Amino acid sequence: MNKNVARILISEEEIVKKSIELGKQITEDYKNGKAPILVALLKGSVPFLAELIKHIDLDIEFDFMDVSSYEGTESIGDIKINKDLDRSVRNEKVLLVEDIIDTGRTLKTVTKLMKDKGAVDVKVVTLLDKPERREVDIEADYVGFVIPNEFVIGYGLDFNQKYRNLPYVGVLKEECYK
Ligand code: IMP
Ligand code: MG
Repeated sequence: MNKNVARILISEEEIVKKSIELGKQITEDYKNGKAPILVALLKGSVPFLAELIKHIDLDIEFDFMDVSSYEGTESIGDIKINKDLDRSVRNEKVLLVEDIIDTGRTLKTVTKLMKDKGAVDVKVVTLLDKPERREVDIEADYVGFVIPNEFVIGYGLDFNQKYRNLPYVGVLKEECYK
């Protein structure tokens, strides 16, 4: 285990098992209509996207957006678009893929952005959900794990851009940011 991890919250095996379940559910929910375009938010959602798409049995496409709303361990309100989508989502169904919903501000803004771009349907799948921290009214349609209000790293989640490569979700030792 990484020396800056206080404890492992969710193991790699649990994440894979959950991704299989979510993939099956998404396949079931979309199978009778147009397949969604998965829009993953860089960079945190990449490991989860990579696992999840293996278990979605539909003609999906995926694309990436990079918005920034996060400095250190506190979320801030406004988001900046660092990288926009490569393709149009006009008249498409969008399934946003996130690593974690914290205050909910990022997702609320990006959901609205997809609708402004002409998406006919916008749903959200997130690996992690921290409901205690919510500041705006938004819920994911598919949630991997509900977690307590602790700063987590790994499986895409970073602290100052590090630890994204850990194969599990762990709690960062407090001494690392205090
Ligand atoms: P929100 O706009 O506050 O919901 O922020 C969501 C973003 O904040 C996520 O996509 C993460 O990049 C980041 N974030 C929130 N909580 C954590 C955490 O515990 N560890 C690492 N990143 C986090
Ligand atoms: Mg993120």
